[in-house]
Amino acid sequence: MPILRVENLGKCYQVARQSRSNTATLRDAIVETARSIVQRKSKLRSEDFWALNEVSFTIEQGERVGIIGRNGAGKSTLLKILSRITEPTRGRIEGWGRVASLLEVGTGFHPELTGRENIYLNGAILGMSRSEIARKFDEIVDFAEVERFLDTPVKRYSSGMYVRLAFAVAAHLEPEILIVDEVLAVGDVQFQKKCLNKMEDVGKAGRTVLFVSHNLSTVEALCTRGIVLQQGALRFDGTAHEAVQYYLDAAYELANSTALHLRRDRSGNGKVRASHFRILDLNETEVSVMQSGGDYFFEIGYHSTIDHALHDVAISLDVFDDRANRLLLFRSNFTNENVSLSPSGGAIRCCVRDLPLANGSYRFSVFLSHANAEVLDYITDVAPSIVEGGDFFGTGSGGLPTHCKILKRAEWSTI
Ligand SMILES: Nc1ncnc2c1ncn2[C@@H]1O[C@H](COP(=O)(O)OP(=O)(O)OP(=O)(O)O)[C@@H](O)[C@H]1O
Ligand SMILES: [Mg+2]
Repeated sequence: MPILRVENLGKCYQVARQSRSNTATLRDAIVETARSIVQRKSKLRSEDFWALNEVSFTIEQGERVGIIGRNGAGKSTLLKILSRITEPTRGRIEGWGRVASLLEVGTGFHPELTGRENIYLNGAILGMSRSEIARKFDEIVDFAEVERFLDTPVKRYSSGMYVRLAFAVAAHLEPEILIVDEVLAVGDVQFQKKCLNKMEDVGKAGRTVLFVSHNLSTVEALCTRGIVLQQGALRFDGTAHEAVQYYLDAAYELANSTALHLRRDRSGNGKVRASHFRILDLNETEVSVMQSGGDYFFEIGYHSTIDHALHDVAISLDVFDDRANRLLLFRSNFTNENVSLSPSGGAIRCCVRDLPLANGSYRFSVFLSHANAEVLDYITDVAPSIVEGGDFFGTGSGGLPTHCKILKRAEWSTI
């Protein structure tokens, strides 16, 4: 029995686009500004941007659906529309159940109200009676572990506490459809596990779950069905496992076919953007396959769109396995090695010796931030990378890649 049907859903945003002056010199820039003042033309033009386009699907009661897609693919937009937080520009939604949603922190709760008041408010919004809510109240408080803070306005909550309570409310108020967007990443690992178990229970109890996550193994474990969004369009709809495979293939294909500086699936203010990613051996020869135990430079080229140098820039290089589990995080500020980036562009190198990865394929993402304050660029899957062969342990053993991807030497003895 369908519980939700969407047809040709579209969401168009008006985005202000700074007229990109390709003016090379300050003088040209001044001339252009003066001209725009005289002509009273705003430098900001707005244009249509379709964050979702012609998306159609039907969801049956009791399905647990994982929605995956790259940054900016339209996942949150879709969930916001299904939760009736934003209106679609086109298309229609038919729903036959009450929806509880847990979207980004800040939606759903009223900041001035206490935890207790928000529980009642949310229950009321879901159409529950006071006595129904009272019956669920203790369970919610128990689950969220916020008893001591029940009478504190939620604006004073830490983001972890806030998400715990928000999840507990959404999951316990017996919605017919539970919608969860990624926010679980805010909580600690133990709480995340608890939430995933709860979502599984909710699904097994015959209720429907829609779940957005970048963690592909979680989607595979939790969901019965997977939908892949790409640039606002629905590209795949099948089992969770097939969807993950489709997504990974597409990610590899994108990383192989589109030069890094042309990719649009990125966030950050763009003052500086990663423009290439290469792996080199210590003789500075580019390699396409790495070896366990080898020594490498990871090189991130960058372009700058501003006219001055940026100092104190932190570079992060995250290494994920092929299910998007983060395995390693190299970050320049861990070792006080933040860098200065030139307005004329250049490259940053990160040297990693004794590569502790077993045979397998890996994904890298690059994150550039300035003075801990602004995100310059963030892009995932900068290059699909393979580790094959090598001799990390010096014994010919490659470890057990099916069990563990990280290699580390240990010394054994008996006493
Ligand atoms: N209020 C808005 N005004 C203009 N553009 C928006 C607005 N909200 C979202 N967008 C744009 O719509 C696109 C889709 O955004 P959305 O948040 O749905 O992506 P997402 O798939 O959830 O990405 P992420 O994985 O980064 O959370 C993005 O390009 C985003 O910049
Ligand atoms: Mg999102």
